[in-house]
Amino acid sequence: MAIALIPGSFDPVTNGHLDIIERTAVHFDEVIVAVIRNPQKTQALFSLEDRQAMLAELTGHLPNVRIDFFKGLLVDFATEHGVSAIVKGLRAVSDFDYELQMAQMNYQLSKIDTLFMPTSPRWSFLSSSLVREVARFGGDVSKMVPPQVAQRLKEQFAS
Ligand code: PNS
Repeated sequence: MAIALIPGSFDPVTNGHLDIIERTAVHFDEVIVAVIRNPQKTQALFSLEDRQAMLAELTGHLPNVRIDFFKGLLVDFATEHGVSAIVKGLRAVSDFDYELQMAQMNYQLSKIDTLFMPTSPRWSFLSSSLVREVARFGGDVSKMVPPQVAQRLKEQFAS
């Protein structure tokens, strides 16, 4: 069975993430979307439980997708779960340098390949951090994230 692993912070999940998850699900028997417990870049806006719950709701129509979480090294989780390939979305050339380095390090550690999937051009400008920033200052993110996520962001930044 071919199992894909899509890791990330998903803080919050965006339309770009969902595009990659849906398209990956076409090519693999099973897709594990693994939410990192403690994102390194920032203090998470949403708790791990909230991020997992939002992803589960938004991928409920995809029977071969399940949501999990990990801490520590991604390749340890991948090996424990019999993952065939790690899948990463690439928005632009600027993503490539760092993603290539991580892919090569992860391969060196585990012999698990990383496959890159080009993000749909519709979403190539999107990142969770920009969505958080726009939402924090009351900007309209309704075309960048699903309605449930837009609502959660509004609630989070209310008051
Ligand atoms: O959504 P993000 O924040 O861009 O996801 C980054 C993530 C979680 C995929 C990356 O930071 C990661 O894999 N972290 C786990 C720690 C690890 O394995 N580090 C070695 C990478 S070569």
